[in-house]
Amino acid sequence: MKLLVTGGAGFIGSNFIRYMLGKYPDYEIINFDKLTYAGNLDNLADAESNPNYHFIKKDIADSKAVEGILSDGVNAIVNFAAETHVDRSLMNASEFILTNVLGTQVLLGAALKYGIEKFIQISTDEVYGSLDSEGYFTEDTPLAPNSPYSASKASADMLALSYHKSFGLPVTITRCSNNYGPYQFPEKLIPLFIANAMEDKPLPIYGDGKYIRDWIYVEDHCRAVDLVLHKGRDGEIYNIGGGNERENLWITEFILDYFHKPKSLITYVKDRPGHDRRYAIDATKIKAELEFEPAVDLETGLEKTIQWYENNRPWWEKIRTGEYIEYYEKQYLQREKI
Ligand code: NAD
Ligand code: DAU
Repeated sequence: MKLLVTGGAGFIGSNFIRYMLGKYPDYEIINFDKLTYAGNLDNLADAESNPNYHFIKKDIADSKAVEGILSDGVNAIVNFAAETHVDRSLMNASEFILTNVLGTQVLLGAALKYGIEKFIQISTDEVYGSLDSEGYFTEDTPLAPNSPYSASKASADMLALSYHKSFGLPVTITRCSNNYGPYQFPEKLIPLFIANAMEDKPLPIYGDGKYIRDWIYVEDHCRAVDLVLHKGRDGEIYNIGGGNERENLWITEFILDYFHKPKSLITYVKDRPGHDRRYAIDATKIKAELEFEPAVDLETGLEKTIQWYENNRPWWEKIRTGEYIEYYEKQYLQREKI
């Protein structure tokens, strides 16, 4: 099997490549990544000596580059490449449209032209919008994205399904809840708060902190994608969830308690515009059809994650310089306290 993984230098993509190289030693894996601010070759430094692993620095919206690779004989594509941070999409959405919408369409078109046998579109539960305190997202929940990020991901889903319906491209979509674990860029809630707690910096909570996410350990997500790649049905959507709904304040206090740091580090700041109140996944379909269940409980996964950030301080300290600081100053330091 020759597998093209796009966005493989990011958080989930790099964990997925490591997982697949370990599980399928005879698979050839090409990591196709533009190396945006979120792409980091350090994430896969341990794979560089593996003769079945290849890296190529290219943009998924560059049709020549994509066709160049596919014409060489690729069996399957797993498309992780995306602009992924909601806050950044609220500051400037254009890169989100170029990569998440146009880039996905370029990949779909090339996949059709070169007869790719399987195309996995990695989507997100955010395409369903927001829930109140009751109910769950099923695969049939109507799409109602609220941020430019989630709107761009919903558009990509629609395009992917249209390539299946119109042209018979063997597309399957996964929609996962919030991932956490090693190698997550420290702008997302958990790694940002771990790094800030370690450096005695404020932990900026948006709004009242009672927003709810369903957390899944990244390796569980990777295992689910592997199952969908090998056993998922074409034209179908599979929700993936951790079954771990928690308020942001619960996560924050867990991190502070781990480090024995004071709650006074919590700083309430102005809310994210259009902030989705609650995400919760109904994962009945993937459990029934593919026998997938997450294996890592939240407390164990969080401890493993915190320990990883403790043991890999140079990894995130290198990131938290230059452009990151500029972004951080715009995002948090200038955010109104409430
Ligand atoms: P990430 O931001 O850590 O990594 C994204 C990667 O994509 C980076 O390596 C970046 O360089 C690459 N990339 C961006 N634009 C590109 C382009 N035009 N061409 C090639 N590569 C490009 O993201 P992540 O958190 O690992 O998310 C991966 C995928 O999973 C995304 O599609 C995201 O929507 C989806 N997802 C993420 C989560 C989550 O909790 N992080 C949950 C559900 C779904
Ligand atoms: O649900 C899946 C999605 O999860 C993915 O599709 C996205 O790519 C990924 O970024 C993530 O989106 P969220 O917006 O849920 O993740 P984020 O880590 O940005 O925020 C999680 C929650 O924490 C959310 O309610 C906003 C809040 N938050 C976040 C940050 C960064 C804060 O209160 N303070 C912060 O500083």
